Amino acid sequence: MTGGGRGPIVYALANQKGGVGKTTTAVNVGACLARWGQRVLVLDIDPQANATSSLGLDKQAVPLSTYDVLVREVPLVRVIQPSGRERLDVIPASPALAGATVELVNQPRREYCLHQALAALRSSNPVPESGAEKAASTGSKGPDTGYDYVLIDCPPSLGLLTINALTATDGVIVPVQCEYLALEGLSQLARAIELVRRSLNPTLRLRGLVMTMFDSRTILAKQVVEEVQQHFPGRVFDAIIPRSVRLSEAPSYGEPIIDYAPRSAGALAYAALARELLMGDGRLQLVSMTVGR
Ligand SMILES: Nc1ncnc2c1ncn2[C@@H]1O[C@H](COP(=O)(O)OP(=O)(O)OP(=O)(O)O)[C@@H](O)[C@H]1O
Ligand SMILES: [Mg+2]
Repeated sequence: MTGGGRGPIVYALANQKGGVGKTTTAVNVGACLARWGQRVLVLDIDPQANATSSLGLDKQAVPLSTYDVLVREVPLVRVIQPSGRERLDVIPASPALAGATVELVNQPRREYCLHQALAALRSSNPVPESGAEKAASTGSKGPDTGYDYVLIDCPPSLGLLTINALTATDGVIVPVQCEYLALEGLSQLARAIELVRRSLNPTLRLRGLVMTMFDSRTILAKQVVEEVQQHFPGRVFDAIIPRSVRLSEAPSYGEPIIDYAPRSAGALAYAALARELLMGDGRLQLVSMTVGR
């Protein structure tokens, strides 16, 4: 795995099933990691651009987006936008991204576009401390390579955009909604990950499954968690994300849950998940569990 201060750890939030919590997890884990001193880049590769707007950016107004990175080979550092939060930057998506798959169809190495773009961040130069604007303004002078984490928010499909994410990624984090038929589609996703590992990205691994929208009042939710744990032993994160109105409200304010409702159950759960990730990645250094400011 990359990391250990020599470049970012790159994770893709992927599940071809829609509405399972990919974006909510990317945004909120990203915000928690940033709060705890990690430099985080949320990279939105979904034409819906929900991660972009959940972090307060206007997807119609961003000057450059992931589309320009993939199709026009614009360097990543020129596309980075500050989120307005310390250590948290964004590569925004835009609706144009919906056409990228078609535009790339004749490109010989079309699965590697994002991988190639991220190579600039994987090199070892330390970052200018002022983050995105400075990196962007330095233009060709040198990329901002100081991120600790890149979190890629995938669309709900296993098409070329998701394949680009998996090819560029160290690990896949799979949000799974605690609902009836939760397991449906997971074996197809596991097969896709295995295929990409064999043919495009030999170091790719399943980082873990996150159970989302857990409703403690229902027996079904508990059964679903157990079932997924049985199918993927040792692969399910201990942190379980509760169903929470606060979590669903936060995006409309363009805020992560730790800003919008820092003491809510959702904020605590995402903080616990971020902590688990840091521990597993060997990056936990005296991290305070306090979520509020
Ligand atoms: N734990 C939660 N509790 C309540 N609502 C949630 C929770 N997690 C996500 N939501 C809401 O559920 C909806 C789907 O979540 P989200 O957008 O994160 O899923 P997704 O997998 O990214 O969807 P898509 O496949 O469309 O990209 C959103 O309206 C979101 O605000
Ligand atoms: Mg999404």
